[in-house]
Amino acid sequence: MAETDRRVALITGCGKENGIGAATAQKLARDGFIVAVSDVAAAGVDNDNTVEKAPSSWQGLDSLVARIEEAGGSATSFTGDVSTEDGAAHLVNSAIEKYGRLDALVNNAGAPHGQDRGQIETVPLDAWENVMAINVRGPFLMSRAAVPHMKSRGYGRIVSLASVAGLEALPERAAYCASKAAVIGFTRSLAYDMARHGVTVNCVCPGSIRTDRAISSTMKAGYTDVEAGLAERAKPIPVGRHGKPEEIAAAIAYLASEDAAFTTGQAIVVDGGGLPPSAF
Ligand SMILES: NC(=O)c1ccc[n+]([C@@H]2O[C@H](COP(=O)([O-])OP(=O)(O)OC[C@H]3O[C@@H](n4cnc5c(N)ncnc54)[C@H](O)[C@@H]3O)[C@@H](O)[C@H]2O)c1
Repeated sequence: MAETDRRVALITGCGKENGIGAATAQKLARDGFIVAVSDVAAAGVDNDNTVEKAPSSWQGLDSLVARIEEAGGSATSFTGDVSTEDGAAHLVNSAIEKYGRLDALVNNAGAPHGQDRGQIETVPLDAWENVMAINVRGPFLMSRAAVPHMKSRGYGRIVSLASVAGLEALPERAAYCASKAAVIGFTRSLAYDMARHGVTVNCVCPGSIRTDRAISSTMKAGYTDVEAGLAERAKPIPVGRHGKPEEIAAAIAYLASEDAAFTTGQAIVVDGGGLPPSAF
């Protein structure tokens, strides 16, 4: 297939309507990218929570592609598991085979939280391994698959989702905090290696963003009224509310743009002015 003359972005973890992945895909499409949206399952994997989902017409990746195309953008979808060599290679190679190029990779997929949360003696080894496999091995495998192509073209943007949890202590989140600190270290080192190849490598560190993840955390904190719980937990955030997925997408879009050529190896915090652990 001949190379398209438009920039192409591949984004992982896009299956949920209210997720950072779907918001990023829509933002990059508005910015002129052809977007390849992906997830391990078409409608994403649920976090551990007890919230009944309201009936919705959302069909995961198919709905996201339709929404982008209705808005005048171009999109396609792939499914694959970022934590496996085959899954990561499949996602990257599918995008390159379809469009002949890959300009930006957004490592957004995140392990659903469940038994990884708690006092350390209660955390099963496989819960730790699962968080590390998706949050750390995933960006490694995806980047490893994309880098030869980006190097050969002398251009690329890699943006990974870390978290303020990679910079600060959050209670009962040892696995998650360790995984996001690893993403920051990985980003800084890879940025160094890629700097002379026209490939920038950065990560974004969101505070608490209103996605399935924040709703699940609120339920886990014991609130039965989700809206009241979210409002209560947002009070200590300096701006007084949770972030919106679109506000993270905006930071990702800057880092994925040609304008960001001199920004590499950075961990950009977007957290509403500070993250009190009780809000997360
Ligand atoms: N929401 C927040 O408050 C917040 C804060 C800081 C960092 N983050 C990070 O931002 C990213 C997106 O967060 P979100 O709140 O939209 O998460 P989310 O839980 O709503 O979505 C994560 C997506 O990753 C997908 N996924 C899980 N395992 C996968 C795998 N093996 N392969 C491919 N995809 C897989 C899920 O299916 C899901 O669609 C995550 O990396 C998360 O850790 C989120």
